[in-house]
Amino acid sequence: MISLQEAKWIWLNGSLVPWKKAQVHFLTHALHYGTAVFEGIRAYKTERGTAVFRLKDHIKRLFNSAHVLGIEVPYTNQQLYDATIELIKANKLEECYIRPLVFLDYGEMGLNPLKCKVSVGIAAWSWGTYLGEEGIKNGIRAKIASFSRSHVNAQMTKAKISGNYVNSALAKAEAILAGYDEAIMLDTNGFVSEATGENLFIVRDSVLISTPKATVLEGITRDSVIKIAEAEGIKFKEEKLTRDQLYIADEVFLTGTAAEITPVREIDNRTIGNGKPGEITRKIQKIFFDIVRGKDKRFNDWLDLVK
Ligand SMILES: Cc1ncc(COP(=O)(O)O)c(C=O)c1O
Repeated sequence: MISLQEAKWIWLNGSLVPWKKAQVHFLTHALHYGTAVFEGIRAYKTERGTAVFRLKDHIKRLFNSAHVLGIEVPYTNQQLYDATIELIKANKLEECYIRPLVFLDYGEMGLNPLKCKVSVGIAAWSWGTYLGEEGIKNGIRAKIASFSRSHVNAQMTKAKISGNYVNSALAKAEAILAGYDEAIMLDTNGFVSEATGENLFIVRDSVLISTPKATVLEGITRDSVIKIAEAEGIKFKEEKLTRDQLYIADEVFLTGTAAEITPVREIDNRTIGNGKPGEITRKIQKIFFDIVRGKDKRFNDWLDLVK
């Protein structure tokens, strides 16, 4: 069963290969031990052509993730930037999701990652809203996961290491099977950390609050939201949050490249605010979508044009 929209080419170790031929060996180290790092990036259609949102920042984070995992990327930032642009052009994609992966390849087995060959691939394909059009518009229902986010000294929060995501996948499946759209995870001390692939914000008494950067992935959408709030004069602070602070928030929303800006209308069967996306959420959401589509010129330097 394939539901993702296949494109023509995948960039693999320096060349474009046909989508179906971009394969790896069964004994690929990363497949067994999660020894890979990745990014999730989006490109949007603007009046100046397709633009990748904050591509340089995503590539920088990919290199940081590899550094945390202790592997060396066999390309430069510029080479992966150029490869991404080349791939979008070759696939003739106007809007797409982009997935670079740096992974330990075939050749060694056992947990020692130090001797493995490092490979790099980039895929790009059309991918609509991650949590659904309806979710973006009217908000989603979330559940606090029964699985804790891994301890900060177990799962490196600054790195998108593939193996980390088993923790997210367990929580996501639990939430879906229980009839919710997404899971919100608590850290090992019981405080809110983030969702399975999104950062979290609340609004209380017109103040925008997000969970502390130290314990979550440094989301590029999160950073964009903080900068939008600053430009709009919306007060922002980072604060440790408990699950019941979410229940009594005026507004809650999630941010991520895949999920973009998705309001949360219900958590654990408690209505958030009046059950509809709040004023500040809608304002930030609108500005965000205007920025990525090149309509809000204040943040034009976040757009990396494909042409
Ligand atoms: C665990 C986690 N938190 C937050 C995010 C949001 O980050 P970004 O906005 O950079 O996509 C992601 C997605 O990359 C994620 O996997």
